Amino acid sequence: MKKTVAIDGPAGAGKSTIAKLVAEKLGYIYIDTGAMYRAVAWKVLDTGAGTTDEAIIRTAEKLHVSLRFVGDNVRVFADDTDVTEKIRTPEVTALVSQVAQLGPVREKMVELQRGMAKDGGVVMDGRDIASNVLPNADVKIFLTASIEERALRRWKEMKAKGYEEPIENLAAEIEARDKADSERAISPLVRVPEATLLDTTGMTIDEVVAKVMELCG
Ligand code: CDP
Repeated sequence: MKKTVAIDGPAGAGKSTIAKLVAEKLGYIYIDTGAMYRAVAWKVLDTGAGTTDEAIIRTAEKLHVSLRFVGDNVRVFADDTDVTEKIRTPEVTALVSQVAQLGPVREKMVELQRGMAKDGGVVMDGRDIASNVLPNADVKIFLTASIEERALRRWKEMKAKGYEEPIENLAAEIEARDKADSERAISPLVRVPEATLLDTTGMTIDEVVAKVMELCG
């Protein structure tokens, strides 16, 4: 039977890297829910209609976010624009938690996410997957790592994309986003009691993938 796998955790814990590799091994679809909130944030900036909550909600109402396969790769679309790379800029990262705390935005994204998972065979990562989007998921994992390690991973990822940010700034950005995500009123980042806690500090990608595969049993 095809399972549903929910992976939650704070920023920079390696969720997307691990979820993508696990999905490949299982022959499942990888659903990056953070990318969907990022696509909304990108559209808000691109539209230039301002970043008040009202303006964000209006933009989100009109926008169609989708994940589409292009060859073997899942790409993120805001209407018909491929925003897969555009949603990883520091500007989008700075806005995304404000976008993601708005009820109407979340309702729209969660409906899409549940639709994509309805037949199983998915690995979905985010903040509220086990607690809200897929409370009946077969496998629930809470992936984390120390703040130092998460900042270092983000620094390497950004450097590979040509951004040279001091590591202290990245650590501060991650901590601020974790705080916003954990303290928001609607579907905050939380570890549900039944989720397996996986602290990946000091672990290699292969080691984490092997552990998650074991949990998917
Ligand atoms: O990759 P990174 O850890 O930086 O974050 P992400 O997974 O791309 O998610 C970006 C942001 O979207 C998070 O900081 C949350 O504010 C929001 N998010 C959310 O609220 N709920 C989700 N299920 C996924 C992401």
